Amino acid sequence: MHISLRQLRVFEAVAQNNSYTRAAEELHLSQPAVSMQVKQLEDEIGLPLFERLGKRVVPTEAGHELYHYSRAITHSLIEMEEVMESLKGINRGSLRLAVASTVNYFAPRLLAVFQKRYPGIALRLDVTNREMLVQMLDSNSVDLVLMGVPPKNVDVEAEAFMDNPLVVVAPPDHPLASARDIPTERLSEEVFVMREEGSGTRKAMQRFFAERGIEIRHGMQMTRNEAVKQAVRSGLGLSVVSLHTIELELETRRLVILNVQGFPDRRQWYLVYRRGKRLSPAASAFRDFVRAEAAKIAAPIAAV
Ligand code: PGA
Repeated sequence: MHISLRQLRVFEAVAQNNSYTRAAEELHLSQPAVSMQVKQLEDEIGLPLFERLGKRVVPTEAGHELYHYSRAITHSLIEMEEVMESLKGINRGSLRLAVASTVNYFAPRLLAVFQKRYPGIALRLDVTNREMLVQMLDSNSVDLVLMGVPPKNVDVEAEAFMDNPLVVVAPPDHPLASARDIPTERLSEEVFVMREEGSGTRKAMQRFFAERGIEIRHGMQMTRNEAVKQAVRSGLGLSVVSLHTIELELETRRLVILNVQGFPDRRQWYLVYRRGKRLSPAASAFRDFVRAEAAKIAAPIAAV
């Protein structure tokens, strides 16, 4: 069948107005031009599409069916136009980002600079745990992810973009607070406040001690960095945290970094996305921005 979009548009207008004359007015066409388009469509399909009912023109059964499909086509066209529009330039469209909870200590600073530069991009940020991040990458429901350890079971591109030093923190009145060069084994005498299963920080901390054959005593477990810091301040134990999370506490001396052999544990933050994903101009712009500027904007203070 050779049916044109123009014919469908005319057909829809007649069906909506129940009149050739009003459809012609709406489309700024002559009445014979409208009749001719409908006639050509009927010839092509091989069925009458309208019948007269007094002064009104109403769709036949074939007309009803065609109307249903014609509307679906029109909707798809609109959606297609919107998508193409959003792909035309960087400063348009939307960007879906997801970050690990620890990343959220600096992500807002990055987004503020990026949004100022590209005010037309609608940003959506999800802050969640590693397991969810991996799921989001797997289901392709996110453009870019900022996280600590790229997943191995999903095919992704991962680029390191900034240091993420892990340090041992203690309350300022801790007996080890002013000690230098504390042997790593000495930590086996201490209790550690732990992040939840699934936390990248927790994983790294466990790997650090396991690699050195040191067993640490697990104390309370907390799902948020803020809770971990409060617990350490309250004397519930030491902990290992990202330097990004304790800027304020160091400034106000509510927490101190212990000088332990092997620390800081030098990790990195990664920008991650599905391999082969066609990044939109907005997503590419964010990737370039993170590569070039994230470390300048959000590098952790040089306290270690
Ligand atoms: P998280 O941080 O501990 O908040 O999950 C991610 C990571 O450090 O890998």
